[in-house]
Amino acid sequence: SIPRIVVTRVLPPTSQAALEKLSNVEMVQWKEDRNMPRDLLLNSIKGADGLLCMLTDKVDQELFKVAGPKLKVVSTMSVGFDHVDTAELKQRGIKLGYTPDVLTDATADTTVMLLLAAARRLKEHQSCGGWRDLNVTCHNYPTQWREWGPNWLCAFCLMATVSRHIFSQSNFIPGVQFTSKTLGVVGLGRIGEAVAHRLRAFGISRVLYSGRGTKHEAAARLGGALHVPFHGLLAKSDFIVVCCALTEETKGMFNYDAFRRMKSSAVGSGRNRWWMVLGGEIGEGSYVMGAVGIFVNTARGGHVVQDDLARALQENLIAAAGLDVTTPEPLPTDSPLLGFKNCIVVPHIGELSHKARMFVILSNIVDLNISVSFLFCFSAVSSCAIGSATTETRDE
Ligand code: GLV
Ligand code: GLV
Repeated sequence: SIPRIVVTRVLPPTSQAALEKLSNVEMVQWKEDRNMPRDLLLNSIKGADGLLCMLTDKVDQELFKVAGPKLKVVSTMSVGFDHVDTAELKQRGIKLGYTPDVLTDATADTTVMLLLAAARRLKEHQSCGGWRDLNVTCHNYPTQWREWGPNWLCAFCLMATVSRHIFSQSNFIPGVQFTSKTLGVVGLGRIGEAVAHRLRAFGISRVLYSGRGTKHEAAARLGGALHVPFHGLLAKSDFIVVCCALTEETKGMFNYDAFRRMKSSAVGSGRNRWWMVLGGEIGEGSYVMGAVGIFVNTARGGHVVQDDLARALQENLIAAAGLDVTTPEPLPTDSPLLGFKNCIVVPHIGELSHKARMFVILSNIVDLNISVSFLFCFSAVSSCAIGSATTETRDE
């Protein structure tokens, strides 16, 4: 009998067209442009041979149980597969298709974007949050305070320090350069390496990474990267990027303790208070003023204990954060994280480039005459080619 597959979303147009051209397959596809309701998914998966799902679908024991023994392949349009119960998958001998590589560059670009935006205080300079703000949108400010000037911002630094009760402490402070700074990569996989590679070009002088195992080859390609324990990475890095998979081990790893261990950048507090008055770079090329302790997450919201991050920002334990991923997505509008000027949140756009979304098509429409493995083809952003099998499958 012809295989039956369940597809939980409408794919990007070219992928969708290719999918619809498939013959010899019975396809059940959720056509509305929102997540397939769980009960419908469970209903449709009964007796199915394959599932093409999104990172928003939970592929858990319940689903496997309902699906029954015919299910051979689960293919997810994502590089992350934390939404898939891989232990159960393995036990049932089901193959997993996912989409590494194609979204590496897009996600690495997004990571750098967030890092730049956080380091150069984009949100603070862009948005008008009241009379204290000195930025493009605050037209009620005298022009001479809004136009470029040599002491612009730095003069205000001083004022902000001595009159913190008047000036909000995060205002009027220059950003921080990457030059001669230390980058900490949590998880030196494809994306982590791509981020480090980009930041090397920005002048990052030292790359540290943590995670299971030493990645000699990636480290060498980066002109040297040092494997360090997580706590060491937290303490030594100016910028920390999360690029690892979400697992039981990594879930919630960024809790209050982790943020507390990060370089302190508390503007106008503790030891940094007086350095800030001096302005400029101090010591080993390190800005002390609001310079260090920047946290960026483009992996999964689950890596972070969000209340702890909010508290860390509130207490100025870290300088800034950039988040592409949150729990939940999107964040509720009253989430405290949205209120911080030094916390930039974007809505899971890591891999949202034309190229990553369309890539699937370039290599996908190849030889579809194979019973169930064709499903790998339709990991919608996968670089799959059946036969040459460039899409990775995993026997978890
Ligand atoms: C995106 O988050 C992905 O896992 O592909
Ligand atoms: C600033 O715009 C400069 O040219 O130095």
